[in-house]
Amino acid sequence: MKMFRLFSHTKCFFQAKRALQRPLWPAQFTAVVQRGSFSTTSVRRQTETVPSWPKDVGILAMEVYFPSQYVDQTELEKYDGVDAGKYTVGLGQKQMGFCSAHEDINSLCLTVVQHLVERSQLSWNSIGRLEVGTETIIDKSKAVKTVLMQLFEDSGNTDVEGIDTTNACYGGTASLFNAADWVESSSWDGRYALVVCGDIAVYATGNARPTGGAGAVAMLVGPNAPLTLERGVRGTHMEHVYDFYKPDLASEYPMVDGPLSIQCYFRALDRCYATYRNKIENQWQKAGINKPCTLEDFQFMIFHTPFCKLVQKSLARMVLNDFLASPSANTESGIYKGLQEFRNVKLEETYSSKEVDKAFQKASQELFSQKTQPSLFLSARNGNMYTPSVYGCLASLLAQYSAQQLAGSRIGVFSYGSGLAASMFSLKVSQNYEAGSPLEKLVSSLSDLEVRLNSRKCVAPEKFAEIMKVREDTHHLVNHTPHGSKEDLFPGTWYIEQVDDKNRRKYARKTL
Ligand SMILES: CC(C)(COP(=O)(O)OP(=O)(O)OC[C@H]1O[C@@H](n2cnc3c(N)ncnc32)[C@H](O)[C@@H]1OP(=O)(O)O)[C@@H](O)C(=O)NCCC(=O)NCCS
Repeated sequence: MKMFRLFSHTKCFFQAKRALQRPLWPAQFTAVVQRGSFSTTSVRRQTETVPSWPKDVGILAMEVYFPSQYVDQTELEKYDGVDAGKYTVGLGQKQMGFCSAHEDINSLCLTVVQHLVERSQLSWNSIGRLEVGTETIIDKSKAVKTVLMQLFEDSGNTDVEGIDTTNACYGGTASLFNAADWVESSSWDGRYALVVCGDIAVYATGNARPTGGAGAVAMLVGPNAPLTLERGVRGTHMEHVYDFYKPDLASEYPMVDGPLSIQCYFRALDRCYATYRNKIENQWQKAGINKPCTLEDFQFMIFHTPFCKLVQKSLARMVLNDFLASPSANTESGIYKGLQEFRNVKLEETYSSKEVDKAFQKASQELFSQKTQPSLFLSARNGNMYTPSVYGCLASLLAQYSAQQLAGSRIGVFSYGSGLAASMFSLKVSQNYEAGSPLEKLVSSLSDLEVRLNSRKCVAPEKFAEIMKVREDTHHLVNHTPHGSKEDLFPGTWYIEQVDDKNRRKYARKTL
């Protein structure tokens, strides 16, 4: 099999690619980024042409990578000897993607970044910032971002700001905020920012194991985007808690207090939603609009998804928040019908209340189907990807609606990372859904998600456990070539070719 090798054999590959390099988004912006090579003079010249407050900064393009193999959750229930339905109904999971021993966080990110740049026919020179959000740490000093710089080598572009950001599943959101803030800052030189989130979510054997997964999402950030980050409304909640953390640097597995992590997730959701509402209501008030912000103001609501059932409970929790914020809400009919007995509950006393959980899940069932369920497509079939999880939900949403159906809507986003760091923010979808518009291009670029998921290989739980054991045994092992067949990897996937005696990793790419 022919492979492309990093370090020394990439030239031909990149030369061929260079012929394709021409950015796609949008005409007004590319006029700035396309100009010449990035010598000091050309950068200065560009800076002079860049508007000081770019419009509609947000997500222009997206790429999703998930492993080519998965284990079926029904099979896993049998193998683990738990009651039928615990993982599939109780947690809401269908399948769980996992990496074999020759994939690591660097290879995942190399793959997703290269796919995004290739599919978008983007020039490596047009990227001025690259941020990585991950909690899959294989080196305490060297950032994944520096490994990704190998992809830029042939272009000669080394003027790429940004580095890794880590806090559990929140690093991707912090990276997205950094990227958008850079585009809106005085440091912006007119080029795109690229955000990569990637993780390998694996748990030791036990009740957390079925909530694993793996994958990576890359997002191109710039002005005139079809998905704009709404300004001045981010609601953030951060605090110190040990719900999930990784103190054992020699292991891929976290320490996790599952019930505490769920409680923390709900608390963060309540706080972020309250802050978001406050900020957007203030903005509306200044514009002369006096109304409360409720779930009705989001056409879609997506969440960080450790497992799908938690997301259904979270949407229900937002309805509980709306209900408590509206003392005169009608409980005789409509969405709050029959909820009178919960009128005086305190949010902080309901984290583990089965009664509240059940009543509000029932009340919000229809809203859940409309606003959130379509976003769980990838999560149900690939599991928790950690940092990319909520962006996988975004990709799922875009993959299941047409540009016309999405146009003009507001997508609420809740991002949570244990430890803890959480934010709620919103994306405004552009009104223009015409063929060839940035929105239509973004949506159609994700339309193959289901086909790609269907093309994965189903692996028996015994084999999955075996592969997890190989990963444990070879994690940080020096001087070795990872075992296993590369045959099953998707074409174009980067993988570890060799780890040398100084723990330096060398990667190769499977032919496209
Ligand atoms: C989430 C986690 C705590 C669940 O583990 P667990 O304690 O073994 O699971 P539970 O016994 O609570 O069962 C989970 C759900 O399945 C339900 N269930 C159990 N057996 C079932 C069956 N046979 N059929 C249907 N549902 C079943 C339970 O009732 C429960 O649902 P509920 O919470 O709505 O009552 C565990 O997987 C974990 O620690 N995951 C990692 C941490 C995480 O993802 N945290 C999320 C926030 S970041």
